Amino acid sequence: MPSERHPLLSNRGESAEIAQQKAALRSSRIREIAFFAWGLLATAAFIVAAVWIQHDAQTDHGNHDKVAPKRNLVFMVSDGMGPASLSLTRSYRQYINDLPENDTLVLDQHFWGTSRTRSSNSLVTDSAAGATAFSCGLKSYNGAISILPDFEPCGSVMEAAKRVGYTTGLVVTTDITDATPATFVSHVLRREMQDSIALQEIGEGVLGRSVDLMLGGGRCHFLPNSTEGGCRADEVDVTRLAREKHGWGYTDDRHGFDALDGGNKVKLPFLGLFAERDVPFEIDRQKQNDVYPSLSEMATTALRALEKATKDTDKGFFLMIEGSRIDHAGHFNDPAAQVREVLEYDKTFKAVLDFIANSKTETVLVATSDHETGGLATAIQEPGHLPVYNWYPRALANAASSTEYLASKLRSYAASIGHFNNPKERRKSKASLKKWINEELVVPGLGISNASDEELEALADNAEASLEIFSAMISLRAHVGWSTHGHTAVDVNIYSSGGPGTQAIRGNVENTDVGKFLRHYLDVDDVVEDITKELREKTEKPGEGAMSMALEGGSVVGSYHAQEI
Ligand SMILES: *[C@@H]1O[C@H](CO)[C@@H](O)[C@H](O)[C@H]1NC(C)=O
Ligand SMILES: *[C@@H]1O[C@H](CO)[C@@H](O)[C@H](O)[C@H]1NC(C)=O
Ligand SMILES: *[C@@H]1O[C@H](CO)[C@@H](O)[C@H](O)[C@H]1NC(C)=O
Ligand SMILES: [Zn+2]
Repeated sequence: MPSERHPLLSNRGESAEIAQQKAALRSSRIREIAFFAWGLLATAAFIVAAVWIQHDAQTDHGNHDKVAPKRNLVFMVSDGMGPASLSLTRSYRQYINDLPENDTLVLDQHFWGTSRTRSSNSLVTDSAAGATAFSCGLKSYNGAISILPDFEPCGSVMEAAKRVGYTTGLVVTTDITDATPATFVSHVLRREMQDSIALQEIGEGVLGRSVDLMLGGGRCHFLPNSTEGGCRADEVDVTRLAREKHGWGYTDDRHGFDALDGGNKVKLPFLGLFAERDVPFEIDRQKQNDVYPSLSEMATTALRALEKATKDTDKGFFLMIEGSRIDHAGHFNDPAAQVREVLEYDKTFKAVLDFIANSKTETVLVATSDHETGGLATAIQEPGHLPVYNWYPRALANAASSTEYLASKLRSYAASIGHFNNPKERRKSKASLKKWINEELVVPGLGISNASDEELEALADNAEASLEIFSAMISLRAHVGWSTHGHTAVDVNIYSSGGPGTQAIRGNVENTDVGKFLRHYLDVDDVVEDITKELREKTEKPGEGAMSMALEGGSVVGSYHAQEI
């Protein structure tokens, strides 16, 4: 067993990954942190079998299912969606469909309360600490993946649910190894350790496998560094390991998704990774529907698959669905992309409600955000102007592409004409580049027909980093404002279908109260405690260096995150 596990996650491999992403951090500490991650996977490999049997006896299933009738839980996370995103999207929807002012989003009709979001070490949380509050019901530091401020792992509600017999699933539109899904089924000191997260997700962690179904993006974290489309630091083919050692079914494309027949043909455990990294923003994805499934399609497929798998079991299922890229649109300050992301999330929320209406098993839906992103404001005062009491959804309706997409088009076009190579050439080609930008990107993509010469000049001068300029152009025309490219501390909304126990998260609550609700509803409070104990027994505490690096990383996570997406 040790010889089988050893090559999977060498400390060299893990350190290469992190060093690449965070070159500023000291390498000795990185090595230490990597040892810790390796430890989580392998330290206890020797004793797993023995302890496992003993543990099974300790966590006698009978203790827990006495009181619990069959129930399902769907937890939805709208990453980075603050209250202003709802106002923006509601008005946008009314505008494009010519609806009256009393027409609201489905989410609006299920408003439940608000959540305070600070982390243990900052008033402004990141998604890792935010999701750890949901998975463990406890505050931790920015960057922590179900690890507490004392650097010890905490048992998650999904691990506990799986242990007592629930069937479990994760659906996202970003990397399935990204912070939010990761906190439910893995434990690492820092969110950047996605090589380790991927392995833990498929069942290589000390608890074995805690999730039965994963749909989303981030395929590159599962492919070896030698493969095209792989972004691991090591040579492990995690998709193969998943299939051959842990029995996962696997698909990596739309064709394979369609073959699941809306969930009817899913054999668990099943892994679907439909993008190398992020699934494209909904505004762009709609034009590539034959390549990528949407969030609502993945969610309804998961619901059907889990319903089918639990048809004859005593326990129901626990599914986490994340509208992952609302956050990215916020980081990019792209309001046109954001309203489409929120609409798709709203559609998914409705799909879950419809599922509940038709389900014979008691099912509760709770939805919230980990934090707000962008400091979005639904009006701006232009410099040198008086305030205008309005904002203009039409400007967002005119856009056909995200600023992320337009910026990448500009980058590759500029490279293709040698714009970056030769300064002289660059000056000469600028006039024609400006014309191309306007005709090929700004008019059809942003829907802006009156770009100023200044704006086109700025785009041509910053062809390698134009995203913020595109975003500023459309935000200005829509009169939509942003205060940051990072996160903010504003309270976020909670939505629910209602149902047993949901009164506990009415009103203004702490994000950890949402996490406590999840485990309470599934009746796994005690099991979470057992799992925490088991994790602590089986993993080595990291060294001093790794611990301080884990916290240091918190101060740069914003820049890492914005850069990375
Ligand atoms: C919205 O207002 C119209 C009248 O202005 C009314 O007929 C309709 O029932 C209202 N809809 C809702 C959902 O309240
Ligand atoms: C791939 O990872 C292995 C370690 O697992 C390393 O020895 C090798 O140099 C890496 N190759 C590339 C191309 O990065
Ligand atoms: C561009 O046109 C829009 C709508 O016609 C107008 O509101 C806006 O002020 C114009 N912007 C610039 C920079 O000319
Ligand atoms: Zn974010």
